[in-house]
Amino acid sequence: MRFVMMDCGVLRFSIWVLLVLNLACCSRGFDPVDQYYINCGSSSDVVVGNVTYVADKSASRLLSTPQDILADSKLNSITPSENSQLFSTARIFTGPSRYTFSIKQGGRHWIRLYFYPFVYQSYDMNSASFSVFSQKTTLLSDFSPRNASVREYSVNVGSGDLVITFSPKANSFAYVNAMEVVSVPDALIDHDAPLFNPPGTFNGLVTQALETVARVNMGGPLVSPVNDTLGRTWVSDSSFLLQSNVATNASNIPAVRYPQGGATSDTAPQTVYGTCTRMNSADDPNSNFNVTWGFKVEPGFQYLIRLHFCDIVSTSANQLVFNVYIGTFLVAPDLELSAKFFGRLATAYYMDFVTPTMDRNNLTVSIGPSPRSAYPDAILNGLEIMKMNNSKDSLAGESILPRFPRSKKNVGMIVGISVGVSLALIVVGVLFFVHRRRKQEQLAHSKTWIPISINGGTSHTMGSKYSTATTGSINSNLSYRIPFAAVQEATNNFDESWVIGIGGFGKVYKGVLNDGTKVAVKRGNPKSQQGLAEFRTEIEMLSQFRHRHLVSLIGYCDEKNEMILVYEYMENGTLKSHLYGSNLPSLGWKERLEICIGAARGLHYLHTGYAKAVIHRDVKSANILLDENLMAKVADFGLSKTGPEIDQTHVSTAVKGSFGYLDPEYFRRQQLTEKSDVYSFGVVLFEVLCARPVIDPSLPREMVNLAEWAMKWQKKGQLDQIIDPNLAGKIKPDSLRKYGETAEKCLADFGVDRPSMGDVLWNLEYALQLQEAVVHNDPEENSTNVIGQLSPQVGEFNNVDTSNSVAGFETSSVDDLSGVSMSRVFSQLVKSEGR
Ligand SMILES: *[C@@H]1O[C@H](CO)[C@@H](O)[C@H](O)[C@H]1NC(C)=O
Ligand SMILES: *[C@@H]1O[C@H](CO)[C@@H](O)[C@H](O)[C@H]1NC(C)=O
Ligand SMILES: *[C@@H]1O[C@H](CO)[C@@H](O)[C@H](O)[C@H]1NC(C)=O
Ligand SMILES: *[C@@H]1O[C@H](CO)[C@@H](O)[C@H](O)[C@H]1NC(C)=O
Ligand SMILES: *[C@@H]1O[C@H](CO)[C@@H](O)[C@H](O)[C@H]1NC(C)=O
Ligand SMILES: *[C@@H]1O[C@H](CO)[C@@H](O)[C@H](O)[C@H]1NC(C)=O
Ligand SMILES: *[C@@H]1O[C@H](CO)[C@@H](O)[C@H](O)[C@H]1NC(C)=O
Repeated sequence: MRFVMMDCGVLRFSIWVLLVLNLACCSRGFDPVDQYYINCGSSSDVVVGNVTYVADKSASRLLSTPQDILADSKLNSITPSENSQLFSTARIFTGPSRYTFSIKQGGRHWIRLYFYPFVYQSYDMNSASFSVFSQKTTLLSDFSPRNASVREYSVNVGSGDLVITFSPKANSFAYVNAMEVVSVPDALIDHDAPLFNPPGTFNGLVTQALETVARVNMGGPLVSPVNDTLGRTWVSDSSFLLQSNVATNASNIPAVRYPQGGATSDTAPQTVYGTCTRMNSADDPNSNFNVTWGFKVEPGFQYLIRLHFCDIVSTSANQLVFNVYIGTFLVAPDLELSAKFFGRLATAYYMDFVTPTMDRNNLTVSIGPSPRSAYPDAILNGLEIMKMNNSKDSLAGESILPRFPRSKKNVGMIVGISVGVSLALIVVGVLFFVHRRRKQEQLAHSKTWIPISINGGTSHTMGSKYSTATTGSINSNLSYRIPFAAVQEATNNFDESWVIGIGGFGKVYKGVLNDGTKVAVKRGNPKSQQGLAEFRTEIEMLSQFRHRHLVSLIGYCDEKNEMILVYEYMENGTLKSHLYGSNLPSLGWKERLEICIGAARGLHYLHTGYAKAVIHRDVKSANILLDENLMAKVADFGLSKTGPEIDQTHVSTAVKGSFGYLDPEYFRRQQLTEKSDVYSFGVVLFEVLCARPVIDPSLPREMVNLAEWAMKWQKKGQLDQIIDPNLAGKIKPDSLRKYGETAEKCLADFGVDRPSMGDVLWNLEYALQLQEAVVHNDPEENSTNVIGQLSPQVGEFNNVDTSNSVAGFETSSVDDLSGVSMSRVFSQLVKSEGR
């Protein structure tokens, strides 16, 4: 399709027409609603790959500039090959100038700017120096391009006008060779990402302006824009490898698959996921080194780092376990890719991290062996490093956005002459409708409940599942199916005297599998209200999320209309039973803090450990279980929901959960965010401190609701008046103060005022440190000194957990089932079944 420029004020609509027409006829991959490709300073259009860059030869509606200077290199200088036609012309600006793009659909947009300096008449572009702004965000400051370069940004813009301003430095000029402004799929950048130093969550990625610093295809060749659904360029990693002899390449592009609800081909193309750079440990089982890449960065900025993984090297599940570092920080300890997908290999996966503000000009990313791995090995498939705008809304130095006098807008319009406009309108209407329909259908289909047939599935062969990994059966959670006979045997045929609990879902039995593994067996009551949907949710959630602070699912059984879930057995039952209503010995303060920290860690992982946050929705002391070492694990995912989509801030859903723990905001507005879990967790914190039920109707009115009652005392600064009498005199005042403040913040009326689970975790760790530090130190010291002495320790554990996996400083202490992957437990099970 060809575009030409025409001076005409009435046909604004036709742009829309042509774009939509364009959409409708080639809707493969992502269809950008807004797409402007401009060949600056040229009198003719240029086609590069599949894209037509339109000439901006005359003052068009898009452009407002004091002087119309079109520079043409006449191709006599040596221009870079690939995009040579784009680089061979430029538009020169002798004063502040701006392009105005009309944005039809707000959201994230690419801005790509092409620069190549050449000499045109009296203008030597090598001496140009200028700043560039997108709306008010500074993209470039006192910039002098020396070589051919393409600068890529992605910014979130509202619908309406997007203004890109070029502002030459005094006595200099500005130029640009080509520009792109194109919609980005909303899902590409998540709404938040884990921070690793200190651990926490960076909220509000959506509004960040990002500049691409590096986009690398590990172990593979350059991937050019035509081979990327979003027109991105991925470069080979060889020039970034600090030591190339420790690395080798692997490639298996056809094997790559995309999971349901995770990475898509827009996240990165198959050609990126299908190649990797791998630790070169083939000849030496004792290999112990890292593979490291180095990048130049600018101090004073934070960076968003996206790591792409796809296990194309393993031949079976659980082979590959490795560590990933950013700088010296272990951001992904014991990463086991197959475990993220039911043992399925070659599945695309990505992880985001936000760095602290950089204090140096280099950044390294390393992969290396994990002590948990049978054979030292490690891979990385792709890497993106994106600079984030600073608090002054700049991606470069500080420059001042020029002010423009108000002026009448130039009227010029882009009109397609190849199509009769009125005819086009009709055609387009139809196509647009069809296209929309198709999109809606696709959306409807993409709602992913893993299909589980409740009546089917009787005779399942339980071997051979990992071998199917690369062919990828949708029903991959078959791997966890356990025959009904085995469940019967394990529970002594559902012996009533083996019942250890009864919930909304049905009865929970203690059991022993025939390999000796102790399990908890939850047998759904087919008439249970919370039936099938929750059964599925639980399987789906627990099979994707594995963490030492989440109860693991060992398998399930859906034969004969049964809904049975088999979990690891938690020796010490619920947290609730240790607080009140039983004869169990009272827990000490440190034990309680450690339990809260463990549970917070589990929830933090749910909120941040996956591309989309998962909201538990039923956080309460009865859903926090304790193993034989009193280590806490969060259980009961039956109500869990995947969290807010990128462009929404909440999930609207019917109110569910447990009375006394419910977020009042959720109750009022039926809107669910991670902060609803934070609220419930705050109630748990008070429950742990006061050791009483969250609702106790037998008490005087003002005491019935624990949350209200405790908040009243916390606000008076007299929380110590209502604590569990067993703790009286045993909590250090600083520790109690920190704990009380943390719980109070969790119970803020509005979700936005509540901390993230990462912050809660951090504060509880601190409360524990305060409790312990004072013990070690002179009791006479005041709390300020204590804090002063603490900082080195605190600094130390800043270095560890990265939110997303096993916490570094805990790994050595209590070890537990998290070291055993579910699939391993299961393969043992299979073996013993086979005997
Ligand atoms: C780009 O053009 C090539 C042929 O030149 C074609 O194979 C490919 O499908 C096109 N890509 C897109 C995204 O349209
Ligand atoms: C620009 O390109 C030239 C020739 O390719 C090279 O020698 C020079 O180092 C490059 N300069 C920069 C700043 O990259
Ligand atoms: C890996 O592949 C890239 C691109 O194909 C190549 O440049 C590089 O030399 C290869 N490295 C090794 C160690 O084979
Ligand atoms: C796109 O990918 C195909 C197949 O991987 C390759 O043959 C082709 O050269 C690539 N095109 C460009 C422009 O890189
Ligand atoms: C890998 O790098 C990390 C971070 O710098 C370091 O702590 C670790 O010891 C390194 N591992 C090996 C085997 O060199
Ligand atoms: C990275 O920067 C630090 C501080 O500026 C410097 O000490 C170190 O040598 C640099 N490392 C590399 C590999 O350039
Ligand atoms: C980046 O800019 C946005 C608004 O333009 C601002 O809200 C945000 O705080 C800035 N980022 C940082 C890290 O300050």
